[in-house]
Amino acid sequence: MCKDCEKKTFYITTPIYYPSDKLHIGHSYCSTAADTMARFKKLTGYDVYFLTGTDEHGQKIERKAAEAGVTPQQYVDRIVAGIKDLWKLMDVDYDDFIRTTDERHVKGVQRWFKQLYDQGDIYKSEYEGWYCTPCESFWTELQLKDGCCPDCGRPVEKTREESYFFRLSKYQDWLIQYIEEHPDFIQPPSRTAEMINNFLKPGLQDLCVSRTSLKWGIPVDFDPKHTVYVWVDALTNYINALGAGTEHDELYRKYWPADIHLVGKEIVRFHTIIWPIMLHALGLPLPRQVFGHGWLVIDGGKMSKSKGNVVDPVKLCERYGSDAVRYFLMREVPFGSDGEFTNEALIKRINSDLANDLGNLVSRSVAMIEKYFGGVVPAQAELDDLDKALIAQAEALPALVEKHMNALQFSLALSEIWKLVSECNRYIDLTTPWILAKNEADRPRLGTVLYNLLECSRIVAVLVGPFMPRTPERIFAQIGVAECGLKTWDSLGKFGGAVPGSRVCKGEALFPRIDVQKELELLEAERQAAIAAAAAPAEPEKPKPVFEQKAEIAFDDFEKLQLVVAKVLKCEKVPKADRLLKSTLKVGDEERVVVSGIAEHYTPEEMVGKKVVLLANLAPRKIRGIESRGMLLCAANDAAGELKLLSVEGDMDEGCEIG
Ligand code: MSP
Repeated sequence: MCKDCEKKTFYITTPIYYPSDKLHIGHSYCSTAADTMARFKKLTGYDVYFLTGTDEHGQKIERKAAEAGVTPQQYVDRIVAGIKDLWKLMDVDYDDFIRTTDERHVKGVQRWFKQLYDQGDIYKSEYEGWYCTPCESFWTELQLKDGCCPDCGRPVEKTREESYFFRLSKYQDWLIQYIEEHPDFIQPPSRTAEMINNFLKPGLQDLCVSRTSLKWGIPVDFDPKHTVYVWVDALTNYINALGAGTEHDELYRKYWPADIHLVGKEIVRFHTIIWPIMLHALGLPLPRQVFGHGWLVIDGGKMSKSKGNVVDPVKLCERYGSDAVRYFLMREVPFGSDGEFTNEALIKRINSDLANDLGNLVSRSVAMIEKYFGGVVPAQAELDDLDKALIAQAEALPALVEKHMNALQFSLALSEIWKLVSECNRYIDLTTPWILAKNEADRPRLGTVLYNLLECSRIVAVLVGPFMPRTPERIFAQIGVAECGLKTWDSLGKFGGAVPGSRVCKGEALFPRIDVQKELELLEAERQAAIAAAAAPAEPEKPKPVFEQKAEIAFDDFEKLQLVVAKVLKCEKVPKADRLLKSTLKVGDEERVVVSGIAEHYTPEEMVGKKVVLLANLAPRKIRGIESRGMLLCAANDAAGELKLLSVEGDMDEGCEIG
């Protein structure tokens, strides 16, 4: 409970994502679910905090950055921006985005590690075993499956190094008892059984929590040659983001313990074994629930960039709108189970549930009010049994939706909402407003029918909001609901909120129908192209320049160099010399000629007007009979045959000294 506003608090988190150049629809699944839940809780009156972020350390990132020829920090910075863009596109409206490279997180990790060490829960020893880099997991010989990682099936690497260890084994019995006494802690229940039987009962081994062979991570501050194991680093994000353990721990005091950590099934293990033991050892309360959802799979298997079968959420959102994609993700697969992603299923859902059922309900109701009542919402008159049944169904709906949402059964919640939508469409067929309209005596009945349809559309609009944040306003605009009070959860308590006399306004189709055949052909062609691209031999890797340190020079030696900005006034090829360009440069008020071996990389036309960096006081040299006074500075990767001229940022005048 928040002391200031008297609202109940609700803290929900997604896992923090590994920065990968393209997050796929599987990643969007978890964030969409968390966002939907956060929005639902806000709608029902909670003070919600929704955290997501990125998990940026570890061997995997270190290697990818090296392959890309950039530092790990540069690598992650570039990617994180793209991840935030994706969440924006998908309306994933988080309250905080934590990066494990954030100072607040780094300091937090170091503090928790030290506390555990000081109290004897972390000790130093030597690790000998196996490591799976893609999963960033340690495995014993016995745990391997056919010599590979039991989680992802990929090869593991033998590791032997001095390490710190965390006394997981000491807390094993406590954790078993805790899980047994808190049946809601791990959900769905099948995952509890999996954790108890596969991991806890066979016995926990102390966990290796530092590495000396890895540099890209958070150093143990009292022994900096050790880097904190990425999972120990990552898990603490959930409390570091709230300022736990710092002077500014207001958010922690308000929101912790988390109500739900939403995680994919393969990482339930880390969240329900390592994390609760760490928290318990630190004397902190445990999250109320860890929910392990299933995977979206393709052709029965995991999406993988190397197979080229990943589905790009950006493309889908651009094509069908983010609300339609979010609806599909939350409707198609019971949360907790794996589900196959197919283009057919997506398009079918859009056409049948959104365009047909919901779209038609709204457009038919509005069109009939326009046609028969000049666009003015009629009032209800006497109710018959059919009306009463529809109203009872509508009034019972919010509680049903809430029950399913509290169990994170998004698809059931939506299916309940759609039962009302279908019932409304059936109600139209049964009440036949177009026949009622023919007889003046039936006008009150016609008004009642259309009012009931409009009110049901309002109720549906409020309830779909957490799933499809853009849709409610589009419906409200058409059915003439402007007042904020009619868009709230509380307004659903009693049927009859819509105001007779207000005006409807027919708008565009909410969800245009898709031409299935044409669309499927298009999507399939794109899929095949992606698979072919993934199978094509990769571009040969560019040779890396070799760096060798030369003998040191004194500062005085450096000061002897006179580096200046120069502007190229004229440039021409040196006759009979393929590699040489003769440039006339302006340096201050002076003009001078420099001959450079850059003709294979720049044309004379490209050179004119450039501002370059000149070593001005190099002794003059005659090259092909031309006196060259100075040298243009270039960066060269000889191995790759690349060369680029140095220039200065901004517009610096020629003659400016560099140093
Ligand atoms: N960095 C860790 C989490 C640390 S949390 C302290 C990690 N990152 S991840 O980027 O690999 O995965 C993030 C989430 O995306 C996981 O919950 C994972 O299950 C989920 N998904 C990745 N692919 C998925 C599907 N194909 N389907 C559904 N969710 C999937 O793990």
